[in-house]
Amino acid sequence: MRIFLDTANIDQIRQAAKLGIISGVTTNPSLVAKEATADYETVVKTICSIITGPDSSVSVEVLAEDTESMIKEARIKASWAPNVTIKIPATAEGLQAISALSKENIEVNMTLCFSLNQALLGALAGATYVSPFVGRLDDAGHNGMQVVKDMLDVFKHYQLSTQVIAASIRHPQHCVAAAKAGAHIATMPYSVLMQMIHHPLTDIGVRRFLDDWKRISQ
Ligand code: E4P
Repeated sequence: MRIFLDTANIDQIRQAAKLGIISGVTTNPSLVAKEATADYETVVKTICSIITGPDSSVSVEVLAEDTESMIKEARIKASWAPNVTIKIPATAEGLQAISALSKENIEVNMTLCFSLNQALLGALAGATYVSPFVGRLDDAGHNGMQVVKDMLDVFKHYQLSTQVIAASIRHPQHCVAAAKAGAHIATMPYSVLMQMIHHPLTDIGVRRFLDDWKRISQ
């Protein structure tokens, strides 16, 4: 399972990139607004220069609401950097835009995806990725990870190449479940990535090894 960071915070992205395990970033208007800037282009270009490599992907959301405007906006945003992936919501207008953009070889991440039906339609339209929002589904009383599993089963059954990004990840157990389900990617906040790394027994073990070594080497 590949790991993407779900943030527009440049410091966090730089820190996480140093670990050498991040191959993508997902942004959305709310995440950009958290950084108190409306300059989406500068933020995206900076992220794209940090997260590089042949498989890298930086998801950038379109804000237009009708198909024609979505397509125009997507073409402009896709030109910001070679590793930009366009995020389009799972609506009828969005599906039309995804169909058109996939024919132009513009990578699309179908976002705000909450059902297997939406994911199947996104895959048929040619989306490179679909993003089921696991945490928001859980919040609404559904089983978000079951929706991820269903998408993976159906894509496998019909040999659809669209990749599933487990999104709206809230805690490390979501990461475990996404990996066990076989999700291609999990996109998560920086805090959850840090939680994935830390284990109290590792901290205790490191401390004990260092203390024992100091005792005999003095
Ligand atoms: C994914 O691409 C979205 O940006 C994100 O995962 C939404 O997560 P949230 O439900 O925590 O806002």
